Amino acid sequence: MQKKAKIKITPPGPKARKIVSKDHKLIATATKTSPIAAKQAKGAIIEDVDGNTYIDFTSGVGVVNCGHCHPKIVESVQKQAGELMHFAGTDFYYDVQNDLAETLVNITPGKFAKKVFFTNSGTEANECAIKLAKWSTKRSRFISFIKAFHGRTMGSLTLTASKTVHRERYFPMMPGVTHIPYAYCYRCAYKMEYPDCDVWCAKILDEVYFNSLVPPGEVAALFFEPVQGEGGYIVPPKKFIEEIRKITKKHEIIMVDDEVQAGFGRTGKMFAVEHHGIEPEILCLAKGMGSGMPIGATVFNAQYDFGVSGAHSNTYGGNLVACASALATIEVIKKGKLSQRAEKLGKHVSKRLYEMKDKYPLIGDVRGIGLMQAVELVKNIKTKQPAEKEVDKILVKSYKNGLVLLPCGTSGIRFIPPLVIEESQLDQGLDIFEKALKSVK
Ligand SMILES: Cc1ncc(COP(=O)(O)O)c(C=O)c1O
Repeated sequence: MQKKAKIKITPPGPKARKIVSKDHKLIATATKTSPIAAKQAKGAIIEDVDGNTYIDFTSGVGVVNCGHCHPKIVESVQKQAGELMHFAGTDFYYDVQNDLAETLVNITPGKFAKKVFFTNSGTEANECAIKLAKWSTKRSRFISFIKAFHGRTMGSLTLTASKTVHRERYFPMMPGVTHIPYAYCYRCAYKMEYPDCDVWCAKILDEVYFNSLVPPGEVAALFFEPVQGEGGYIVPPKKFIEEIRKITKKHEIIMVDDEVQAGFGRTGKMFAVEHHGIEPEILCLAKGMGSGMPIGATVFNAQYDFGVSGAHSNTYGGNLVACASALATIEVIKKGKLSQRAEKLGKHVSKRLYEMKDKYPLIGDVRGIGLMQAVELVKNIKTKQPAEKEVDKILVKSYKNGLVLLPCGTSGIRFIPPLVIEESQLDQGLDIFEKALKSVK
């Protein structure tokens, strides 16, 4: 396979077009971004069915942090698939699950006894956190943030508030959820400026909401993303997270850290919350955990365990093959020092994006941490009017030249290549992006 982007037939080529049109007939409408029909992939390179190769700046939406088809992970999956694929973790016991739970308990922040519930996805990890918080506190209200994305099943969807299209026609949802603005400093909801604002967006929770609207003693948990993902790759000031932690501690509210997109080395630490030195009671994991095998986990302070058989369970959570994949993934991240690599490469991406911002007024903001970087495009630097159509044009121009990108937020583009991407591939991808950016007025 090629080790760089090479377009032989302008995509979508004939084979890809056939697949796309069959998909449109048979598969429920979802969120497709580009007509790329992948055939195989290795590291940071995707090959489509027409023989084009692309640089992957999406990691399969934040999943393949170790690169596509990492040989150690493939080997581990194949070995487990040959021994035992399923018996039912609901009712019987698997040692592979114990091994993975032990590993997760050891690598997640929190110097307290922890337990793990295995899921198949991020949304289910958050559903479990909702249930654990309700079950253990006997409280029924929740706090979440505007622009948050926690999933699409009814409980987690209620916490999600990144785009109205996710919520439209699905009301009423789970009762008891109050959303407050996140520390989105580029577009502060209170029209304030950091640091003069003294993180009012966090303080308002205690000073206003808990005084007038929401009895804090009824709040089971506060859900947050340490970096808002789908909402626009929004990195909050450190003080915001610290303040939120103080408030949750004061009112004995469980802090649920959704690391589904930011976890597993992506931000330069194994988990993004480690940048803040705090220990949330519950962590929700998925995506980068399994390198493409469907697996997620809710890692929680053991004191919140259900303790009653049947209070929560599932058929496939912690499937053996997926567990084997996750164990190998964590080993590859640790042995390959991929968090450090994410930090180093992230600095390079950020530097190049800032250079582009100086040249092209379409870039309103550059932000990110580690290899979780993004730009926000605006029609006018002063009014900050979102440049949504321009985002679409850049995505098309980019894939036609061999770079796969994903949008985020209202007019953002994210840069989340596999952490193993080679530096020459990273630069080729950034060159393709810059060419597309230059061509869009
Ligand atoms: C932060 C976060 N939480 C939860 C989810 C939902 O994960 P899944 O699509 O695996 O249900 C996502 C998905 O993008 C996410 O980014």
